[in-house]
Amino acid sequence: MAATTSAQTLIAPSLLSADFTRLREATALMEEAGADLLHCDVMDGHFVPNLTFGPPVIEAIKKHTDIPLDVHLMISNVDETIDWYIEAGPKIISVHAEACIHLHRVIQTIKDAGILAGVVLNPGSSIRMIEDVIDDVDLVMLMSVNPGFGGQSFIDRVVDKCVHLKEMCAEHGVSPIIEIDGGINPETAAIMAKAGATCFVAGNAVFGADDPVKMVQTLRTEIDNVRKEEQ
Ligand code: DX5
Ligand code: ZN
Repeated sequence: MAATTSAQTLIAPSLLSADFTRLREATALMEEAGADLLHCDVMDGHFVPNLTFGPPVIEAIKKHTDIPLDVHLMISNVDETIDWYIEAGPKIISVHAEACIHLHRVIQTIKDAGILAGVVLNPGSSIRMIEDVIDDVDLVMLMSVNPGFGGQSFIDRVVDKCVHLKEMCAEHGVSPIIEIDGGINPETAAIMAKAGATCFVAGNAVFGADDPVKMVQTLRTEIDNVRKEEQ
């Protein structure tokens, strides 16, 4: 398993856009594609207007793949249920700042379990909301769509937000992984790579493609080209 650091390009295909009756085939395909992470979208029909899966499905996916799991919790009761997701054993758990009353405590709980802790911001939430935990998190995820569904259009306001987030991180002397989620395709991935993102979630672009394996590779090439130019 490759290391997961803020310096490397990470491609995280989202299983939300895979065929839920054929998840084993989807994970095998992503192994072939060299995906770095498998993005698992947990939705509760309350924090977001959609319902997906929970810990038993995450555990089942984990049993059938070596790709580290990147769990994105879109749930209201994070404070009460975080231990369920820790027990499922993913590599990363990200929680929405808007959903956590005790954000600092939840982040510490995830880290104490040896799991990378991420904090997520909706398109309408300011980066200032997470300034007091920026020293503690391993990852910041910016939503480039309003969470709940795959296949939505990229909200380009997130480009400047990402640049400002990078500035805030520099002020604090930290360099968390910057993950972008929503409407990512080769074009928007390149834009976000330029803005400083290093971890890219893609659902519809990958699983809606004629050749999902090739799409993962195309995304990586586009992103790496931008990052090479920036060096
Ligand atoms: C949306 C989810 C995303 C979703 C992205 O709420 O958090 O991870 O799967 O899907 P695309 O890439 O299709 O926008
Ligand atoms: Zn997601």
